[in-house]
Amino acid sequence: MRVAVIGLAGVGRAHVDRWAKSPNAELVSVCDINRQISDEFASEYEVKGYTSTEEMLDTEDLTAISICTPPKVHLALTRMAAAGGIHVLCEKPMASTVSDCQEMIDVCGSAGVVLQIGHKKRFIPPLLRLKELTKGKFGPIQYMVHRYPHPGMSNKDWFWAEDDGGGPILENAVHAADILGFLMGDVERVYAEGGTFFAPHRKPQIDCAMFTLRFKSGAIGVVNAGMVSMGGFSFEDFYVANENGVAEVIGRFDSAETLRYSFRDDSETLQEENYPNFDSFRAEIEHFIECIQTGSEPRASGEAGMKAVAICRAVKRSAEIGEPVVL
Ligand SMILES: NC(=O)c1ccc[n+]([C@@H]2O[C@H](COP(=O)([O-])OP(=O)(O)OC[C@H]3O[C@@H](n4cnc5c(N)ncnc54)[C@H](O)[C@@H]3O)[C@@H](O)[C@H]2O)c1
Repeated sequence: MRVAVIGLAGVGRAHVDRWAKSPNAELVSVCDINRQISDEFASEYEVKGYTSTEEMLDTEDLTAISICTPPKVHLALTRMAAAGGIHVLCEKPMASTVSDCQEMIDVCGSAGVVLQIGHKKRFIPPLLRLKELTKGKFGPIQYMVHRYPHPGMSNKDWFWAEDDGGGPILENAVHAADILGFLMGDVERVYAEGGTFFAPHRKPQIDCAMFTLRFKSGAIGVVNAGMVSMGGFSFEDFYVANENGVAEVIGRFDSAETLRYSFRDDSETLQEENYPNFDSFRAEIEHFIECIQTGSEPRASGEAGMKAVAICRAVKRSAEIGEPVVL
């Protein structure tokens, strides 16, 4: 399997590194519109470097690409790949708008290529175990509280641009929107309060929000998210409950390691499971390879990526108009 990575400065490095280390693929090229960055990666990984995706796709015989650019160009790059019959692993948020997400699904579907979105939380072991519990004795989650305060600030202009990164709610909280959809199903309605407290120079973009979710199942949840925290306070947690029990998943931001749960019929017994040092980038890339080889639907599909973008757009809209928004 011959692969390339597009967009290298940030998370692209994690993709380049995991592809280069995969025993199931060969990293053959990299691309970044910044010539210096492209040259640096090409020389470090001993692969061909490009500054134009079009030229790279015309020149190289590729099976798959990772798209690690800002979201505004995810659709254009996906279109080019699909036209060439190339499978796509695209970083989150899937795109800046729901309509771009839909077109990505359509072009990949018509071309018969796999489209996976970089929702790496779907591979984190304690969250997978929690999902497993909800299918067994624990049962569906009815009540959920999720704290997801991003540690640190972004100084990238595209991140804050409404028609690109869409600010912290689309860029970061999209992980929360996606994993809660994975654990609890589709969302029916959101109500958000947002503000610009930590990056006042980015107004009118909001830098944080607290929002409630009503799921189609009837379950309820609340999320706090945004660029609220700092490196020394790197954490996230999920507290969930239903008539059968209570559970929590806790750990460092984006790397939760611990699951604890208890059943109401044995409420003094606390089960604890720990999954240290898990590499979710490696897991998502190996899963993507497997989907290409077997033709199976990715765990983080285009449809799931689009739903997460829709929730974040609804959160931002609700914060703007001061009313609940029905999806
Ligand atoms: N899954 C994660 O944990 C995670 C972490 C960080 C970022 N991301 C996502 O990855 C994407 C990129 O974020 P980042 O922080 O790495 O950004 P970045 O700005 O650090 O890097 C993006 C790179 O893409 C290049 N680029 C831009 N347009 C391009 C184009 N048309 N063709 C080729 N190269 C192009 C830029 O020159 C830059 O080097 C965003 O969608 C972001 O949300 C995901």
